[in-house]
Amino acid sequence: MEIPELPPYDHHPRPYIGPSFEEVMELRKRYLTPALLTYYNNPIMIVEGSMQYVYDEKGRRYLDAFAGIVTISVGHCHPYVLAKAREQLETLQHTTTIYLHPTVAEYGKMLSEKLPGDLGVCYFVNSGSEANDLALLMARLYTGNYDIIALRNAFHGGIASAMGLTAHSTWKYNYPHSFGVHHAIAPDPYRGPWSHDDPEAGAKYAADIKNLIDFATPGRVAGFFAESIQGVGGVIVYPDGFFANVYKYIREAGGLCIADEVQTGFGRTGTHYWGFETQGVVPDIVTMAKGIGNGAPLAAVVTTPDIAQVLAQRIHFNTFGGNPVSCAMGKAVLEVIDRENLNRTAWRWGVISWKPCKSSCPNTR
Ligand SMILES: Cc1ncc(COP(=O)(O)O)c(C=O)c1O
Repeated sequence: MEIPELPPYDHHPRPYIGPSFEEVMELRKRYLTPALLTYYNNPIMIVEGSMQYVYDEKGRRYLDAFAGIVTISVGHCHPYVLAKAREQLETLQHTTTIYLHPTVAEYGKMLSEKLPGDLGVCYFVNSGSEANDLALLMARLYTGNYDIIALRNAFHGGIASAMGLTAHSTWKYNYPHSFGVHHAIAPDPYRGPWSHDDPEAGAKYAADIKNLIDFATPGRVAGFFAESIQGVGGVIVYPDGFFANVYKYIREAGGLCIADEVQTGFGRTGTHYWGFETQGVVPDIVTMAKGIGNGAPLAAVVTTPDIAQVLAQRIHFNTFGGNPVSCAMGKAVLEVIDRENLNRTAWRWGVISWKPCKSSCPNTR
């Protein structure tokens, strides 16, 4: 296969002086869990990154279309994010939320202002799985119900509770983890029973959820969990009206609607800042991770003041949640997305690579 040539780029990777590829491979095989996977027959060792590019130990440059599994939202080692991280690292690395710190407080305000409706209270954690675990807890405590509706083909993380929400055998170990979770038909307009040419597809997929509520639960549910576009499951964009109908059924059954924005948040869809906006709904809880920190171990659960109050029944504590370095990076990411209009950039690339997007881009013209 002919290897395409990359355009010129003014960055010279540092000479690599660490252990060789073979040594790293040996160390990894000997000391890291065998559950790890690598891509490609000949895996790549990545030792440096600069914006959209990464470099291997030999200084070869690659276009990082995967962006660290959808995490590098504004570019590898983006100079502004780097400057803010460095400034914070050199000042104070960690305390915990037991003490006041300006960055986490300011960041909470900035992030809340990005969300619609009453969504305005943030809990910071370290990963998407943890954010989903916390959202699950909040939904169950707030509603007093236990049953959860999720979707087949969903991915919500690898910790036990998130594995229960996930619906791919690839990521589900053979041990009890899904108690109380019911998985509805994936609203997949390509492979599912109702396709793009059926204007009622969204309502029909939603009807399966109503059916699940009526027949597989006590008729009352704690909530509905869904990625706003299924990411790991193959970028499944739901038919119009799906969320609007589901949210109605869930709320009628006493439940909360939870949007997993781990992959779709922070302008990645191009048309909107949040993926759920493409379906014209406002969730009760939003979970976010990955692109939130451009590589910082940062994630968040954002909800309404009323729902947030439920956790105040006990102490909720998370050692690294709200860490000043992660929050400084999170803040910088929000600023860069706005300043560089990355939402619009994502939309422009969407138009080039996926024509149907052209007709529905309200926010970015
Ligand atoms: C939609 C979605 N939710 C949750 C997660 C879990 O996030 P983390 O790996 O940070 O725990 C992922 C990770 O890929 C994801 O894609």
